[in-house]
Amino acid sequence: MWAELRELCEAVDVGTPPREGAAVSVTIDGAQVKVPAGSSVMLAAARAGKAVPKLCATDTLEPFGSCRVCLVEIEGRRGYPASCTTPVEEGMIVSTQTEKLQAIRRGVLELYLSDFPPEDIEGGWSEFHETLRQVDVFSHPYRVATHHQNSPVDESNPYFLFDPAKCIVCSRCVRACEEIQGTFALTITARGFDSQVAAGQSQSFFESDCVSCGACVQSCPSQALIEKSLFEGDYRHG
Ligand code: SF4
Ligand code: FES
Repeated sequence: MWAELRELCEAVDVGTPPREGAAVSVTIDGAQVKVPAGSSVMLAAARAGKAVPKLCATDTLEPFGSCRVCLVEIEGRRGYPASCTTPVEEGMIVSTQTEKLQAIRRGVLELYLSDFPPEDIEGGWSEFHETLRQVDVFSHPYRVATHHQNSPVDESNPYFLFDPAKCIVCSRCVRACEEIQGTFALTITARGFDSQVAAGQSQSFFESDCVSCGACVQSCPSQALIEKSLFEGDYRHG
């Protein structure tokens, strides 16, 4: 059931919010598509039926460009721009599925997996797992990191819990709290592998300014934030 539900959600999540400019014509993997000026390359790719893998982007939030999974190649441009933060330009020619891009995405996702519960990698369901399937990455060559694995689960909120072990620090919850609810209850503390989601002044969710609106839970791609009603009894990974 979850897979079907996720497919429905994915079918309508074009990665970045719609824009309303004049039509701009771009070519994505050989397919021509028109989208409003100001749209992202990611949105154009989705409209062309060439959905680019993503983690930190969702069309309910402004693009942020932190996960680097959505990189593409654009003719005449150096490097590999993030498709979620790059606006379309008339005549742009974009490739989304080259071997080089696959290798970069694989490397990025392997790093994410190195700090994810090993028992939850295969067979799990979440938007994160859908992206893993899209890029065909289910293992990593690293020692299992412990940056988030030993942090306690925050079950203080009556409606949802936060499992830091599953958090990929995409900041979608932080941005949802700000952009959708306007509450600013969440932040990302520290940097690099040590960065993590914190409620309030490193309080529990229940003690913080969180108003339990659920915007963060809905935006979370990895089920690090998950409704308690979705499981019965004690919470465990999986
Ligand atoms: S809790 Fe979820 S939405 Fe928030 S940063 Fe972690 S993975 Fe992203
Ligand atoms: S989806 Fe574009 S950088 Fe994360």
